[in-house]
Amino acid sequence: MKLNKRKTLGILAIAVFIIIQLFGIDETLPPVVETENFYNDKSVPEDVRILLRNACRDCHSNETEYPWYINIQPLGWWLKGHIENGREQLNFSKWNSYDDKRKARKVDECIEVMERRRMPYKSYTWIHKKAQLSDDDYERLIAYFESVK
Ligand code: HEC
Repeated sequence: MKLNKRKTLGILAIAVFIIIQLFGIDETLPPVVETENFYNDKSVPEDVRILLRNACRDCHSNETEYPWYINIQPLGWWLKGHIENGREQLNFSKWNSYDDKRKARKVDECIEVMERRRMPYKSYTWIHKKAQLSDDDYERLIAYFESVK
């Protein structure tokens, strides 16, 4: 069999793709301390907790539900990077461990991203219909965050 350059490159690309599948992401979830968990905080209205659970949990909490395609690399690496970045910015599982200053800053940021409809990402809600927020949902969340400022 005579291999030309294109064929060799093709075989190499497939080999690389197969090999990187061996380096899956670590799916272990960081633990949730219930007293720190926003989603279980009874002082937050239930409808708000449900909205934020449906729309933000996968990237902003330690209760991520990983989709099946997280097992396909490099897609999984990319998604995991997103989730880690999201958690770092804002982690509803750790909400009550934030001091007042940090909470106040996060509340302001939440209002801003809700007003600009920046979160949740379109690429996410396209697949996760449950996370789609209506204008009423956005208004409800803004009103809630304004009320705790
Ligand atoms: C698909 C993952 C994903 C979802 C779902 C998601 N976020 Fe984010 N979020 C991120 C990432 C990644 C960042 C950091 C990068 C950025 O700011 O775009 C971020 C950043 C933020 C920030 C900080 C922004 C700033 O001003 O720097 C806030 C606040 C935030 N998200 C709120 C929310 C809220 C509220 C929801 C639900 C209504 C939500 N996000 C849903 C991934 C997500």
